Amino acid sequence: MSGSQMKQNGEHVPKEVSAILDALHLTDEVQHELIAVCQRSFDLGLQPETHEDAAVKMLISHVRLMPNGTERGNYLALDMGGTNFRVLLTKFTSEGIEVAAVEKYHLPHDVRTGTSDQFFDYIADKLDLFIKTHFAKCDSVTFPLGFTFSFPMEQRRLDSADLLIWTKDFAVDGVVGKDVVALLQKAIVKKRLKLRTVALLNDTVGVLMAGAYYDNDCKIGLIVGTGCNAAYVAPLSEVTRWTGDNDEPQQVVIDTECGAFGDDGSLDFMRAEFDFDLDSRTLNKRNQIYEKMFSGKYMGEVARLILIKLAQQGVLFEGEVPDTLQQQWVFTTLFVSEIVEGDSGVQHSQSQRILKSMGVDNPSTVDCKLVYKICCKLTERGAILVAAAIAALLIRVKKSPVCGIGVDGSLYNEFPTFRNTMVKKLEELSPEYKARFLAVDDGSGIGAAVVAATVSGQSNK
Ligand code: BGC
Repeated sequence: MSGSQMKQNGEHVPKEVSAILDALHLTDEVQHELIAVCQRSFDLGLQPETHEDAAVKMLISHVRLMPNGTERGNYLALDMGGTNFRVLLTKFTSEGIEVAAVEKYHLPHDVRTGTSDQFFDYIADKLDLFIKTHFAKCDSVTFPLGFTFSFPMEQRRLDSADLLIWTKDFAVDGVVGKDVVALLQKAIVKKRLKLRTVALLNDTVGVLMAGAYYDNDCKIGLIVGTGCNAAYVAPLSEVTRWTGDNDEPQQVVIDTECGAFGDDGSLDFMRAEFDFDLDSRTLNKRNQIYEKMFSGKYMGEVARLILIKLAQQGVLFEGEVPDTLQQQWVFTTLFVSEIVEGDSGVQHSQSQRILKSMGVDNPSTVDCKLVYKICCKLTERGAILVAAAIAALLIRVKKSPVCGIGVDGSLYNEFPTFRNTMVKKLEELSPEYKARFLAVDDGSGIGAAVVAATVSGQSNK
């Protein structure tokens, strides 16, 4: 047994690991500084003079009407924004929303990084398949479609918006700067589908609207999944970039794009070396700095970089870096959650299994304990980062006595330790403004149908 391994026995943590845990630790002081950074970033994005160069864009969604339960009719929703996308057939009746059919389709890597035509034709093919599978007969009427597209967009109208930048390692050529609805509609027409895209929205706007359908106090939408972002209902008086009418309701939903916190360097004071390293290996370098510290696409990758460094230092895996672990993205955030949720007792069966699948022949108990500690710390750091941004948003929304938050995403839904830490931290960081989380199944997709239904009014009965 090597000297460094002997030091790991008992409760003693090797100094290399302590140094990493310290670098990932967010002190109370840092947590409060984070809230202040978020506040400043929100202001810079909202103000016309600073908006252009602002990291957090505070995009105007053009969604103004909240649902009130009188929506009726059938709507199709397309929910696109990660490695899978969903199509939903929803029915709005006096009883509520019924999801009559839902299908999940994989979006292969070559489609996510191919050409615009390949991308939108692929989606239209799946819409066609969905219609053939779930519609008894091809209706002669054109069906309204709500499209959740979970990327930053400069929106002109509810049914027209240009993609600003790809995130989450998407890199489809020829879409940035183009009208996403026009591109989808072109593919729909090519396939002769009787669909008309009536609303385009970000997933945070969708989950806010889905939450608002069930709870009038819902003023914030939060996604903590592959990426991370939040939206909120803002009074028009605070949105000085708004150039539309001032009719009732004098409000509009803002897609904050808070995943881009820190793109201006404002989070550098708390980023660890692994955060910089991870960013330098991504397709969208120097973008989405906050999101890259913890969201589902990235938390596992941060863990992988840490494990490699510790192996190189001789602290883990007898100093060997297994070949599999060398591959980017191979250590997923699902692994982090399985280790955190499964290995809290004396057993380390999850770490054993996962490390073996990474090519570590015989992970020692010490290896497993250290990997567990690192995964827990990354989880805690991510949960605090989300809580701080939400605390900043609650101050802005000033909804009392409680603000509803529509929420969706794998880190919230499928990672209880992450969710519970986030909720507890938010209570600590926001003593004045309280939050009530509303998890709506398929919320981001249903939200697209809700927006389509609110704009279509009662016309599609
Ligand atoms: C995108 C956002 C989206 C979030 C969650 C981020 O990468 O920029 O638009 O809301 O992921 O899906």
